[in-house]
Amino acid sequence: MSDRKLSIEELRGIALPLLEEARQIALEPKELEVKTKTDRNDLVTQVDSSIEEFLARELFRLTGYPMLGEEEHEPESFAGRVWILDPIDGTMNYVATHRDYAISLALAEDGIPVLGIVVDVTKNLFYVAQKGKGVFCNEERIEPVPTDSEYQDAVLITDIKEICALPRLKEALLSSRGHRRYGSAALELVEVACSRAGAFVHLWVSPWDIAAASLICEEAGCKVTRLDGTNLDVKQKGSILAGWPGVHSSLFKRLVQDPR
Ligand code: IPD
Ligand code: CA
Ligand code: CA
Repeated sequence: MSDRKLSIEELRGIALPLLEEARQIALEPKELEVKTKTDRNDLVTQVDSSIEEFLARELFRLTGYPMLGEEEHEPESFAGRVWILDPIDGTMNYVATHRDYAISLALAEDGIPVLGIVVDVTKNLFYVAQKGKGVFCNEERIEPVPTDSEYQDAVLITDIKEICALPRLKEALLSSRGHRRYGSAALELVEVACSRAGAFVHLWVSPWDIAAASLICEEAGCKVTRLDGTNLDVKQKGSILAGWPGVHSSLFKRLVQDPR
């Protein structure tokens, strides 16, 4: 562990090879031990736990920073630098479809993400954002999202739970270019950042689902808020509405401000 304060660039350089090792852990053929958590579709495997244990240990050894991890790590506070990890985002996909799952790692400074990395494990794509420095996918810069489109011009990503809870969302989807759902909140936000979808709506995301990908979205020019338009606090569970600026504002207007 270094005595001086590491730069975000240096931290990125530390995190990326560890994430490649974590990706290999996910891909290694093995018999999965699948357990349920809060309900029958909320899964965890021994691989989620191994990846979290490996990254928490190595990142602490090399940086000294604590971790908030989905499976078993909690920092004493969010003061200073804290790693935020979802060892496998999309565990149902990991178990059932074997694709569309991610490793999501952010570094937060006083609770604000300054480095966000989402690894699309099976596609071998590393999406990386540093605050103020834009987004890269495997070293290639991601273009900023369109600014002038409205929700009718774009594909929208959300889940059946949100459609059932928000009848106006169903109406909005019907007048959009179409509805998509992949089963990993981190990868779904990355779809928006890469201009492949106009917005992502979710009612109940956790810090580890969104800490990295919300920075990736912001750095690509997206607007990211709670569904009621208030600021996103990645330290707390809650809703998220992330979208290209015009898609975000038109969808927010349709869903919350002046629903017809
Ligand atoms: C889940 C996925 C899913 C989202 C759930 C998350 P997990 O994460 O991101 O797409 O709808 O709310 O909990 O449990 O696979 O890490
Ligand atoms: Ca997750
Ligand atoms: Ca997870």
